[in-house]
Amino acid sequence: MKKIVDVHSLEETQDLARKLARSWESGTVVRLEGGLGTGKTTFTQFVAQALGVQGFVGSPTFKLISEYQGAEKKLYHADCYRIDTPEDFLEIGGESYLYPEDGITLIEWPEKIDPLIPDSAVRITIERNRNNPHARQFGITVA
Ligand SMILES: Nc1ncnc2c1ncn2[C@@H]1O[C@H](COP(=O)(O)OP(=O)(O)OP(=O)(O)O)[C@@H](O)[C@H]1O
Ligand SMILES: [Mg+2]
Repeated sequence: MKKIVDVHSLEETQDLARKLARSWESGTVVRLEGGLGTGKTTFTQFVAQALGVQGFVGSPTFKLISEYQGAEKKLYHADCYRIDTPEDFLEIGGESYLYPEDGITLIEWPEKIDPLIPDSAVRITIERNRNNPHARQFGITVA
């Protein structure tokens, strides 16, 4: 099932992130797709806020997977941009994040580890709008 949501500002992206975060139970894995600078980390930051995470730090260059404690569940954030192969992801201990029992996992650049991602993952694709730098189109596909 695919849903398209058009947002026109950071506030609307935040609203969308809040609604989705509320609907996601522990065990949910989310593929975050979209080109450079489309808003994958920004969206993740809003999900972190919605989950009650304190001190979300985005994408530190030296860390590919980060773990945060929310009020009720954990948030795992993986940024696979600098990962070359699925094997590399497994080598840094990524497997457990693909089946999170106590939280949800958001993955930027999931294409890099495609064969590893469970079919049940939610797919979010973010696209820019040529005419408005603050607008984004979110495509949300639930398996
Ligand atoms: N409606 C919006 N939703 C999300 N981000 C927006 C929106 N409007 C403007 N932006 C801006 O777009 C930029 C998105 O950057 P961000 O780092 O989140 O992208 P990214 O997809 O994670 O990039 P990368 O591929 O480098 O990891 C931010 O500067 C953010 O403030
Ligand atoms: Mg990013």
